Amino acid sequence: MEDRIREQWEINAESFTDLIAGNGTPHHRHILNPCVEELLGDVKGKKLLDAGCGEGYLARYYAKKGAFVTAIDLSEHLIETSKQLTEKENLAITFEVGSICHLDSIPNDVFDIILANLVLLNIPCLDDSFKELYRVLRKGGYLVFSIVHPAFNFYGPGSWEMGEKDPDTGRREGVYFKVDKYFEEKEFQRYWTTRRGDKFPSAISFFHRTLATYLNSLISAGFNLITFREPQPIADDPFFEREKRIPFFAVFKAEKR
Ligand SMILES: C[S@@+](CC[C@H](N)C(=O)[O-])C[C@H]1O[C@@H](n2cnc3c(N)ncnc32)[C@H](O)[C@@H]1O
Repeated sequence: MEDRIREQWEINAESFTDLIAGNGTPHHRHILNPCVEELLGDVKGKKLLDAGCGEGYLARYYAKKGAFVTAIDLSEHLIETSKQLTEKENLAITFEVGSICHLDSIPNDVFDIILANLVLLNIPCLDDSFKELYRVLRKGGYLVFSIVHPAFNFYGPGSWEMGEKDPDTGRREGVYFKVDKYFEEKEFQRYWTTRRGDKFPSAISFFHRTLATYLNSLISAGFNLITFREPQPIADDPFFEREKRIPFFAVFKAEKR
């Protein structure tokens, strides 16, 4: 299974790097990232693990804020890209190709902060991953993780009923969001598109799980949930008409006591 997931990200690495464009999509920049940053708090001087770093823009961002960053990803291609982008900015980040399902090379109690941004919905091994993230976090350290909101998950059992295209934003208006079979936890495969509108070369696997599954798995691993957020768009931009009505992302902060 892990080989299959790795293969998807290797094949999609260039398209994904194009989509992220060095600082995230509009949804990341205007909805998710400000919330994640607030929950991470002051990272200066802290050992931060970016778990499933992708092309690494968040690893670079927090390295610039003074964190000592280690960045791990399953895809060798994405780690290579991430290294190159880091060198361009003269930053120091430790990189590793690896899986957050089994962080074999990392000893216990190392990190002050772990960020798993939009990763846990792409992995089959949620329980193992929470256990591993708990193990490598020091006591008193925080895990901040984000997912696409599982109750309104259009990569899973949900989708928008679309209306007319708004000529100003270029996006279609949302009539309502429909959800069915929320309790059916299973893998869905979806294709993303690049900023130019080209289809990614490979489908991406999304593992739909209920909110209860995420929370119970987190708690079983030993974490204490501190904060749960459903961030809203930061600006009153008509582009985010749909995202102002129902939550797009879910963000969690948990502590190792
Ligand atoms: C949606 S991307 C998010 C990347 C990055 N965190 C961001 O916010 O841009 C998901 C990432 O998870 C990585 N990934 C998938 N399974 C993984 C695993 N088992 N261990 C580590 N990384 C994994 C993929 O290679 C991909 O880079």
